[in-house]
Amino acid sequence: MRVNATLCGWLGYSADELVGKRKVQDLLSMGGKIFHQTHWAPLLQMQGSVSEVRLELIHKDGSRVPMIMNAVRRERAGAVVHDLAAFVARDRDKFEQELVASRKRLEAAIEEATGLQEEAKDRALFAEQMMAIVSHDLRTPLATILMSAQVLGRRAPSADQLRVLERISRAASRANRMVSDLLDFTRARLGKGLAVERRRLNPHSAVADSVEELTSACPGRDLQHVREGSGHGLFDVDRLAQLVVNLVTNAVAYGDASRPVIVTSTARADSFSVSVLNFGTPIPAEAMPSLFEPMVRGHGHSNGGRSVGLGLYIVSEIAKAHGGSVEVSSDEVSGTQFTAHFPG
Ligand SMILES: Nc1ncnc2c1ncn2[C@@H]1O[C@H](COP(=O)(O)OP(=O)(O)OP(=O)(O)O)[C@@H](O)[C@H]1O
Ligand SMILES: [Mg+2]
Repeated sequence: MRVNATLCGWLGYSADELVGKRKVQDLLSMGGKIFHQTHWAPLLQMQGSVSEVRLELIHKDGSRVPMIMNAVRRERAGAVVHDLAAFVARDRDKFEQELVASRKRLEAAIEEATGLQEEAKDRALFAEQMMAIVSHDLRTPLATILMSAQVLGRRAPSADQLRVLERISRAASRANRMVSDLLDFTRARLGKGLAVERRRLNPHSAVADSVEELTSACPGRDLQHVREGSGHGLFDVDRLAQLVVNLVTNAVAYGDASRPVIVTSTARADSFSVSVLNFGTPIPAEAMPSLFEPMVRGHGHSNGGRSVGLGLYIVSEIAKAHGGSVEVSSDEVSGTQFTAHFPG
């Protein structure tokens, strides 16, 4: 009945060639004609409108013009008419093709990233396994060094020789501790978690034993043990000792040497806790969130490259393996205190 110049321009016809001569469906491709019959016409009949239908109209020269069509059925002066709005969808086509292409690119990138991630995981696992093997195998030669130094120490050495022997023992023990930290780290990381063997014991005396050992290992330092409450706890005594050693070693290394280090064991009916308090420069607030992560160590303290940054990670793994947790508070006045809580 009517057609505007834009649609005429798109389809290559003049208005005279269309008005009164062709129906809309005559301009549709074969697929469009079928769609018109099966969907378009019934929908217009039933709901009065059709919107955003993608169809191809045929240009006068036979080429296909992709279109988005909308139609409304109206009554005008007693007669039913259909108003159609058509938009060329070439741009939209291009847009959709680009969407598809970038989706493909994205998928390829994801695939590549996943591959790289797998590779990195493999490599990390390999490195951790190697670390596990190396640290495990280092223990035997270290034990030999320690034992040999002890044997020599029993053969009436001179004062000079004794000093050298002590240095050997100290260095070997230090290496031993680093190695067992590494081993625990790899055990915790390689999925098995830290193994603990819990027994019902008195936590005060277990802590007292560690404090006594540490006192002789840290000459000149004021190391105090405070006991609160009484009772028994279920724990792995070696792991508890390891936890205390790690916390006290830190307190001695990073705390003010002129002030005491105070170890407090607290026993309650259904739980117990161990805390280690030292004074000195507090731990900076920004270091707090990652303090218990492996390989994290503070800056600005030189300790002869001894520190690995595993101590606190192992402390928290030991607490976790017991179903417990570790917390820390640190400020200039009340000092730095690490507390490990254990369920009873
Ligand atoms: N009592 C403390 N006072 C101040 N800073 C501490 C204290 N304990 C730990 N830190 C800080 O937290 C860091 C991490 O401690 P962690 O015990 O995990 O590692 P490390 O002592 O550096 O090395 P490792 O214990 O493996 O030999 C330390 O490097 C130190 O900067
Ligand atoms: Mg440490």
